[in-house]
Amino acid sequence: MELTIREPDLEEHLAGARLLRSCLGFSERDAVPAWLMHATAEAGGLALGAFAADGTLVGWSFAVAARSEGRDELLSCGLAVACPHRSEGIGRALKLAQRSAALERGVERIRWTADPLAAPALRLYLSHLGARLTGYRAGLYDPIRDGHPEGQPDGLRLPQDDVEVVWDLRESERTRVGTDPPVRVELPFRRADLSPPEHLDWRLSVRDRLRRVLAEGRIGVGVDLDATARRCWLVLAVDGPGA
Ligand SMILES: CC(C)(COP(=O)(O)OP(=O)(O)OC[C@H]1O[C@@H](n2cnc3c(N)ncnc32)[C@H](O)[C@@H]1OP(=O)(O)O)[C@@H](O)C(=O)NCCC(=O)NCCS
Repeated sequence: MELTIREPDLEEHLAGARLLRSCLGFSERDAVPAWLMHATAEAGGLALGAFAADGTLVGWSFAVAARSEGRDELLSCGLAVACPHRSEGIGRALKLAQRSAALERGVERIRWTADPLAAPALRLYLSHLGARLTGYRAGLYDPIRDGHPEGQPDGLRLPQDDVEVVWDLRESERTRVGTDPPVRVELPFRRADLSPPEHLDWRLSVRDRLRRVLAEGRIGVGVDLDATARRCWLVLAVDGPGA
């Protein structure tokens, strides 16, 4: 598909906010407002839209300016690609455009958090961009996020766990992985196919396994995919001197 990635104009933030909300399954309460994305983008953040040839918005990415360990960073707060256009490389194109814009500003690290069960997102981040999964935050947003799937306000509430993802934009700074054999943790292939109790089971079992493997000094470096068998695994390797 012919694609243009660019910073959106003021009104396009509305479509971006809608796409983000629907792709992330956020309730109205949890949605990121269009005005906030515009205001923070003007103050050192970055909103990017991916537009099809006819001008339709098919992807969106949003990050705010941040600072940690004495360095300017971007804190990415949302990436979304419209359902019919997933797995076409649009997410990757948006993240690479984010990387280019960051480097132009002298920013060399982007961080964000992600749902540990979001296999396609983790495959993009870890296997294709070279970002690293470095931490597990159980119930990070439990006190403040709705947690009910959209349209099911009385359904089973899912714990709002996130994993921490760090993307060092300069290859030379990227964490090298050691030579110990990697460990694999299975993830659900398609979250949308899970019943609420199945979703909760996956949440708790991946939480338990992942926390133990991370505590051994490993970090997430990729997602293996067997599309025929409809299975996928998070790959964790020892964080150490280059192999
Ligand atoms: C995450 C998201 C933005 C990725 O966008 P995208 O345009 O589909 O991404 P890409 O096509 O660049 O890469 C996706 C990768 O995941 C793979 N993938 C697809 N389904 C998968 C699955 N069930 N399990 C593991 N990997 C999967 C794709 O095959 C592709 O990898 P490949 O290039 O090796 O084939 C999109 O899936 C989305 O909007 N999801 C809902 C919102 C979300 O989870 N956002 C991230 C919040 S942190």
